[in-house]
Amino acid sequence: MFSVSKTALAFVVLSLASNSLGRKWRDTGGFIVFEEAWTIPALLNQTSATTAALGGTPAELQANLLDIHNQRLQGMNENNVDFMVLSCTQPCIQGIADPDTAAAMAITVNNQLAADIANNTERFGGFASLAMHNATVAAAELTRAVTELGFLGVLLNDYQQSGADGLTPLYYDQPEYDIFWQTLSNLNVPLYLHPRTDVPEILNFQYSHAKFLIGPAQQFAATLSGHVLGICVNGVFDRFPNAKLIVGHLGERIPSDLSRIDNQLLRQLTLGMPMLKNVTTYWHENIFETSSGNFATDLLKFHIGQIGLDRIMYSIDYPFVNMPEGTVWIDTLLPDGVLNPAEFDSFSRGLAIKILRLND
Ligand SMILES: *[C@@H]1O[C@H](CO)[C@@H](O)[C@H](O)[C@H]1NC(C)=O
Ligand SMILES: *[C@@H]1O[C@H](CO)[C@@H](O)[C@H](O)[C@H]1NC(C)=O
Ligand SMILES: *[C@@H]1O[C@H](CO)[C@@H](O)[C@H](O)[C@H]1NC(C)=O
Ligand SMILES: *[C@@H]1O[C@H](CO)[C@@H](O)[C@H](O)[C@H]1NC(C)=O
Repeated sequence: MFSVSKTALAFVVLSLASNSLGRKWRDTGGFIVFEEAWTIPALLNQTSATTAALGGTPAELQANLLDIHNQRLQGMNENNVDFMVLSCTQPCIQGIADPDTAAAMAITVNNQLAADIANNTERFGGFASLAMHNATVAAAELTRAVTELGFLGVLLNDYQQSGADGLTPLYYDQPEYDIFWQTLSNLNVPLYLHPRTDVPEILNFQYSHAKFLIGPAQQFAATLSGHVLGICVNGVFDRFPNAKLIVGHLGERIPSDLSRIDNQLLRQLTLGMPMLKNVTTYWHENIFETSSGNFATDLLKFHIGQIGLDRIMYSIDYPFVNMPEGTVWIDTLLPDGVLNPAEFDSFSRGLAIKILRLND
């Protein structure tokens, strides 16, 4: 009898441990970052069009994307990063047009990430990757990733390509995604919406006059901000008031332009726009931003005034940005009086602990 219950206890402890990735984490008061990219060898060919960190080569970028436990962890140790949430670099599943291939690849990616971080969940967590062709399938995989793999949320790389030629974009602001938003809300996890490189047809149409604007300087923010605003104007947050959306790069410019956005959208009310509140209000109730790849102190100050520091968190955007770049910047915020100690704690870790529910 006694030995049976001991066995049962051991089993419970074991399965608890494997079901709680990211729940026990190293907390030395250091930083928490979570727009941090990783990929698997099978998807490495998607990264040829992306840009290495300043001073890095494409080969170094690819090596850094595949690595978790070596130079990445060493960089975390050297840069006061306690905990990093990994996600599959763009476009990942969103670049796979065939629904079945995409759904199978999402499962592969999620299982691989869970397995790769399983021996160090004190330092690493995961965001799920999802095929977004069918919201029911996406919701089921999100549920599995959170409840069985212990993932802390989901990261989607902007619109999902679909159709035989891959040229039908799917945006998650349509009513057929309600089941996805409902599941996200029920699980109480955030969606991180990350940019992607547009399909070549869009790039040719929009950027052939100035191809240097493809990627983070312009195209990422332009494309993703349209998706985020689509989610607002189509009333997603009115239907799912508890949904949490995170946008990187200091909000893909939206919080810099709320006055014009809100005032101009007032004109659309007579044209049947379903949105019940205004975009500023969603930035106070549903949307958060991170500083990933955008270490601009004046902009941070302006955004604190626009949306409040309780909507803004630190992140780096490794390996597209070198970790020390983030460290050099964040280490100025206290001495320069931009943030007081309580605000610094919230920005660098405290709000992330709450939103990612690291201590739940
Ligand atoms: C990457 O390789 C896979 C096969 O492993 C292929 O299906 C896919 O189309 C390739 N993607 C790109 C962007 O070349
Ligand atoms: C986890 O496993 C990887 C790959 O085998 C290894 O490099 C790393 O040192 C391990 N980490 C821990 C904390 O055991
Ligand atoms: C989405 O997937 C579900 C579950 O597999 C299925 O029942 C449903 O028919 C699919 N919807 C579409 C539009 O294909
Ligand atoms: C947005 O909505 C809030 C809350 O109703 C209101 O206080 C604010 O004035 C609105 N902003 C604009 C620019 O309309």
